Amino acid sequence: MILGICSNKGGVGKTTVSTLLAAYTAKHTEKKILLVDADHNRGSSSVFFSNKEPADSIFDAFQCYAEDPYDFLSVSGAMKRAVVKAEGYENLFVLQSSRKLAQITALGLEAEALKDMIGIAHFDRYSLVIIDSGTVPVIVSMCVTACDRLLIPMMMSQQCIGPTRNTINLARRKHTRVLGLLPMAAGRSRWDRAILENWEEIIRDTSDLGWDLGLMEGISQSRSVVKADPVSGTIPPIALPTLEKIYEALGL
Ligand SMILES: Nc1ncnc2c1ncn2[C@@H]1O[C@H](COP(=O)(O)OP(=O)(O)OP(=O)(O)O)[C@@H](O)[C@H]1O
Ligand SMILES: [Mg+2]
Repeated sequence: MILGICSNKGGVGKTTVSTLLAAYTAKHTEKKILLVDADHNRGSSSVFFSNKEPADSIFDAFQCYAEDPYDFLSVSGAMKRAVVKAEGYENLFVLQSSRKLAQITALGLEAEALKDMIGIAHFDRYSLVIIDSGTVPVIVSMCVTACDRLLIPMMMSQQCIGPTRNTINLARRKHTRVLGLLPMAAGRSRWDRAILENWEEIIRDTSDLGWDLGLMEGISQSRSVVKADPVSGTIPPIALPTLEKIYEALGL
């Protein structure tokens, strides 16, 4: 199961959900979990490790693939070298990112590249692969293409509506099933309610996308989420119902 946590909008909670879900899942099952950090800002990587540039990263794998997508040994080797076990876990692994990923466009890769690379590296040995996409359009497109299910975090601002619609449209073009739309840091204001009603309508109009969990309850505004430390395995109680629902829907 490959779950893409993607949005064309920055700062909507992709890394927050990716890292909390990875920690939650790893604690609830003995199955192997891989968190793929595909963001050049190293959001998910720096939650589990320091923010130092790693010796091996997903960028090296992309570079290998760009040089020769049929050199399976090199691509697979580069992918595996970038995977590091998360401290404190026996079954949680992180495919580290690099700031070099900001230059990905220069590699001229197709949208299918990441899907192909995950296949070449035999990452189906992991029961769950979670991808934190970042916001670079080429990579978001690769993640939406690579995943079996898509989870789209969003926040309540006006600026979030357009990019979130773009992500939904991308899922439609790529025939990717959407697990749910996940409101992050929502409050109880009338504005927030109105925005959510609007999204409910959009979900009804795009029922071909599956929407297993539809418009989710979400993880409401809380400082405990900002201060959460997935490395320690302590999950803020406010995030638990959401994580539980996602975990159940994935049917691992
Ligand atoms: N439920 C919440 N309550 C309060 N703050 C939250 C909540 N969810 C996320 N945030 C905060 O919102 C900010 C953006 O979240 P996050 O970094 O996960 O987004 P992102 O989509 O990964 O951003 P980027 O596009 O920069 O990678 C962070 O400071 C995070 O702590
Ligand atoms: Mg992030």
